[in-house]
Amino acid sequence: MQLKDSEPGIQIIADVIRKIFFREPSGHDWWHIFRVWKMSKHIAREEGADETIVEAAALLHDMQDEKLDHVKKIDIEELLLIHKFSSHQIEHILKIISEVSFRKNQHNPHVTSIESACVQDADRLDAIGAIGIARAFAYGGFKNQIIFDPEKPESTSVQHFYDKLLLIKDHLKTATGRAYAEKRHEFLLTFLQQFRSEWNLQS
Ligand code: ADP
Ligand code: NI
Repeated sequence: MQLKDSEPGIQIIADVIRKIFFREPSGHDWWHIFRVWKMSKHIAREEGADETIVEAAALLHDMQDEKLDHVKKIDIEELLLIHKFSSHQIEHILKIISEVSFRKNQHNPHVTSIESACVQDADRLDAIGAIGIARAFAYGGFKNQIIFDPEKPESTSVQHFYDKLLLIKDHLKTATGRAYAEKRHEFLLTFLQQFRSEWNLQS
C-alpha cells in the first residue's frame, strides 16, 4: 500500500517498515503506522510543512520505542542515508521521532518544528475515536491488563481513557489536527457513557 505523490525513497522506507511491523500485536502494527503516515502527510499539506520530512518521520516514529522491544530494530540513520536524505534532514527526522513519544513526554509534549507537530498530532489522533478505542484494548490485552475493575480502576484499560485519551484533544498542535479530534473525542465520551450504563445494568 502506497500513498500518492510520495518520493521514491519514502516508498522504499515504507516497504521496509511494513515488513517489520506487519503483525505487531500491541496496536502498533503496520496499519497504525500507515494511518499515521497518511494523516500526517495530509496535515503537513494543510499546514504547509515539509511533506518528505513528515513522511519519513511518520514511517519511522515507532522504530525507537523501548516498549516495542519485541520489534526488530534497524539503524534509522543508515536507512535514511541510503535513500539520499542529507545529514541536516536526518537530524530533523530524528528530532521529530524523539519528540513524538506520548509516554515519555506525557500529556503536552513539546515540539520544536511544524513537521514535528504534524507527526505528533497524527499519532495522537490514532489513539482516539473508534480506532483509538480498539487500540487501547489491544494494548491492554498485550500487557495482560484487564478491561475495567470498579473496585480498583487504576491499571485498567478503561482508566487509560481518563488518564490520557480524553486529554489528547486539548493538546494537539495544529488546527487541522484539532478539527479531526472533535468527532473522535465525542466518540470516546459516547463509548464511556454506554460502557458505564451497560456495566450498571449488570451489577
Ligand atoms: P505512542 O503513541 O508513543 O506509542 P503509547 O504507547 O502511550 O504511545 O500509546 C500507544 C497506544 O497504546 C495508544 O493507542 C494508547 O491508547 C495505547 N495505550 C498505551 N498505554 C495504555 C494503557 N495503559 N492501557 C491501554 N492502552 C494503552
Ligand atoms: Ni505511534
